[in-house]
Amino acid sequence: MSRYIIEGGHRLQGSVCIQGAKNSALPILAACVVGCGEHVIRNCPQLSDVDATVEILRHIGCKVRRDADCIAVDSTNVTAGSIPDLLMHEMRSSVIFLGAIAARIGDAQLSLPGGCEIGLRPIDLHLDALRKLGAVITEEGGRIHLSCPDGLHGATVALSFPSVGATENVLIAACTAKGTTTLINAAREPEISDLADFLNRCGAHISGAGEGIITVEGVRKLHAAEHCVIPDRIAAGSYMIAAAVTRGDVFVENIIPAHLGPMVGLFESFGCRIDMEGRRMHLRAPKRLKAVPAIRTMPYPGFPTDMQAPFMTACAVAEGTGVIVETVFESRFRHVPELLKLGADIFVDGRTAVIKGVPVLNGAVVGASDLRGGFALIAGGLAAQGETTVHSLRHTDRGYHALDTNLRNLGARIRRINDDEEKDEKEYRAGSAGFAE
Ligand code: EPZ
Repeated sequence: MSRYIIEGGHRLQGSVCIQGAKNSALPILAACVVGCGEHVIRNCPQLSDVDATVEILRHIGCKVRRDADCIAVDSTNVTAGSIPDLLMHEMRSSVIFLGAIAARIGDAQLSLPGGCEIGLRPIDLHLDALRKLGAVITEEGGRIHLSCPDGLHGATVALSFPSVGATENVLIAACTAKGTTTLINAAREPEISDLADFLNRCGAHISGAGEGIITVEGVRKLHAAEHCVIPDRIAAGSYMIAAAVTRGDVFVENIIPAHLGPMVGLFESFGCRIDMEGRRMHLRAPKRLKAVPAIRTMPYPGFPTDMQAPFMTACAVAEGTGVIVETVFESRFRHVPELLKLGADIFVDGRTAVIKGVPVLNGAVVGASDLRGGFALIAGGLAAQGETTVHSLRHTDRGYHALDTNLRNLGARIRRINDDEEKDEKEYRAGSAGFAE
């Protein structure tokens, strides 16, 4: 198990360039299955979730070539429609392949993705929507079998919740369905618009992405296309938090300012000065943050649930008391017990957390249990006095490329120890002890 060792209390300064958006790259890579030919996807972040997605693409018959953040996907010979359980469980968001495989092959089998640390993560909205498009879906023994005996057809699909994943599955499946699909109460996240842009480059006819109602006019087939993934707004917000909790002065490069809209106001309420200069943002933090009275997570364009945990670390060291209400996922406070080990003062009741800011956090040994909670603990270690160890980095490896390198380049004292390194270190010490004798 790998871990970060962080010596806290160092002010972050300098600039960090933001990676491509994980939550855009994953559905776009899955959507490559629909069109025939070699797609070229640029600015794909190098993350374990992207690795898992590439494994699935190869498993179903795509040829995939990678060169750093550029991925070429040749989907000419897509054959298999089933995703192995191991790969499904490695990344639960692989459910996004359902729409793509339904559209291309018309027959798909995968295991129910199951829940994760932040909630039960049901997929009922995905399945109901695909059924409306003509898919016949049976669930048995924890596995889903989807078939489209008469192909997919357009329909009016109204989501009871603007689910990001369900919106993506409908967009991907509806592109080559017979007729027009109208999606009502669609998710409006920037990643939805990025996916629609990619699909339209492949020959789809999607309009209204980014709004609550999206229309898809089915076309006979899609062709291959090239695309550059948008920057990761959550990674950008995460580095902004690291700067904010260390009295930092940081430039965040390669962002789309509009995508950070729901967060910028809160950073300013914390007392940070934010200046936008094109695709670069300059954040200057005060000596101590001021508490933000209330933060409520909402679907976009509201405050993003993925930023809830990192923002809680900022609240933990701010002057005053703040309240965070998590309205999107039912158990997204798993980072709280670990922040308490660092000396935070947080009270949780259901989906509401009351955070009384403390002047100082103190280093401790903590463990990540999910991706964004893991970043919250790293930010806590950067802010704390003394040494913090953050275990279970497989979570943050899913969403942050070169995290420790980027933080070190900003002046953080952070190093990563992997098991093999630890083993080598032990053997080295044992060996050198031998020489000493
Ligand atoms: C996407 O997850 C993101 N993941 C999540 O980011 C993000 O937190 C979430 O959207 C909300 O913005 C990817 O894009 C890979 P939802 P998704 O469907 O699609 C309920 C990260 O840290 N729901 O919008 O799974 C669900 O339980 C990850 O990068 C149903 O009830 O999110 C949740 O309470 C974490 N039935 C709410 O909707 C369904 O069929 C939002 O889920 C689907 C969802």
